[in-house]
Amino acid sequence: MKRAVCPGSFDPITYGHLDIIERASAHFDQVVVAVLENRTKASLFTVAERIEMIRKTTSKFSNVIVDSWSGLLVDYCKTNSVQAIVKGLRAVTDFDYELQMAQVNLQSGIETMFMATAPAHSFLSSSLVKELAHYGGDVSSMVPTNVNAALKAQVARK
Ligand code: PNS
Repeated sequence: MKRAVCPGSFDPITYGHLDIIERASAHFDQVVVAVLENRTKASLFTVAERIEMIRKTTSKFSNVIVDSWSGLLVDYCKTNSVQAIVKGLRAVTDFDYELQMAQVNLQSGIETMFMATAPAHSFLSSSLVKELAHYGGDVSSMVPTNVNAALKAQVARK
């Protein structure tokens, strides 16, 4: 079985992530959307909340499952027989960081495959969505309905 992982912090998942997940699912028998820790980012949602949001939005894809991991991505891949990491590239600004990660992970024998983000999503990021939502901006075109509702609830709570 050809199994790939779409890793990320997904805080929260956006239509940009979903586009990559859907397109990756057409090329692998199974795609695992894995929520991992990014030590450079503070998170708004708990891992359990992020998993729940991802599960709801990916349930329509029969070969996509959701998981989380608190260690290195390559260890997740080895433990779970994942052959490839799939990541989206929005612009050249993503490239330096993503290339570095891909090369580090390749040292452990795990391949990374990059997919070009669809132009409609190239400006989109979880950070941008959180910033807009914080100030009451409309993010309904950027995230699924359940994520939009969760963002509104978080903002109301603060
Ligand atoms: O959505 P993000 O925040 O860009 O995703 C980055 C993520 C979580 C995939 C990356 O930080 C990661 O792989 N974290 C797990 C630890 C790890 O393996 N780091 C890379 C080698 S040092």
